Amino acid sequence: MNRNLALEFVRVTEAAALSAGRWIGRGEKNAADQAAVTAMRESFNSIDFDGLIVIGEGEMDEAPMLYIGEKVGQGKGMRIDIACDPLEGTNTTAKGGPEAIACIAAAEEGGFLHAPDMYMNKIAVGPAARGAIDITQSVTWNLNSVAKASRKDVQDLCVIILDRERHQSIVKEARKCGARIRFISDGDVSAALATATPDSGVDILMGCGGAPEGVIAAAALRCMGGDMQATLEFTNDEEWVRAKKMGVKDKNQVYGLTDLAKGNVMFVATGVTGGSFLKGVRYVSGGAATHSIVMRSQTGTVREIETRHSFDKKPRYGW
Ligand code: FBP
Repeated sequence: MNRNLALEFVRVTEAAALSAGRWIGRGEKNAADQAAVTAMRESFNSIDFDGLIVIGEGEMDEAPMLYIGEKVGQGKGMRIDIACDPLEGTNTTAKGGPEAIACIAAAEEGGFLHAPDMYMNKIAVGPAARGAIDITQSVTWNLNSVAKASRKDVQDLCVIILDRERHQSIVKEARKCGARIRFISDGDVSAALATATPDSGVDILMGCGGAPEGVIAAAALRCMGGDMQATLEFTNDEEWVRAKKMGVKDKNQVYGLTDLAKGNVMFVATGVTGGSFLKGVRYVSGGAATHSIVMRSQTGTVREIETRHSFDKKPRYGW
């Protein structure tokens, strides 16, 4: 995969972030999402590449833009599969909360699990605990194993988890082990990244979130040397029918990191609202500043990019 594409994709996440940034704290999550989607799509289509959305805003009948199967780019060169979330953290953006990002993962053709838009159970860790997780085992087993691999006491581990009723039993068991919990209101892609970010204070992501977000997080963890396991969480028969159509054969299949994102992958994100690893969009005289991260699995390079945008000169995508 052409490495320069990673830098091209930064322009795409920057455009989505700049566009969604106008909606921070305005209480309108759908408008914020739509702004990000429009900007991301227009920006993708200005790039010389042959892209196919495999994870996007949903299926063709439910999403007019960036739907699964939509072609993006100018159609030249090698086929690239795209998993994108133009605005990861729509609620947080609407409320002006932390950790909303615009993100893209890219892989060579067939590199991503075609995950239906449903829930996924996830465990993710950073490089220190790679190989030490097993989603079929208990919370206690995983915490002990991660603590041992990380050369820490279980009491020194911090579990990051979405603050949801459905996670009560995980929280109870983790606390019983003595581990600490960091609750987040939204954004488990950022949370997965935090497990692989030195000094984030977070060791392990546990719990159930969106399956598309799981695939995107797996691409980032591939680049960062972390690890992840997942299972799909079916809440009704219709989801199983949809999953089968997308190629899922076994309801209980355990997906490892490379089942979710294999081969050469890239991950790109730009902060929308400020968080622990990316600053949000900041408006400055005559323009705005953004903070992005770009990574590639092939080299493990993690590059941070601070950009100043001049509104007088820059094409504006969707805003
Ligand atoms: P969106 O902002 O893209 O809707 O996703 C936010 C999010 O918190 C994800 O990070 C997470 O995977 C999912 O929603 C959790 O879903 P739910 O809010 O239904 O628990």
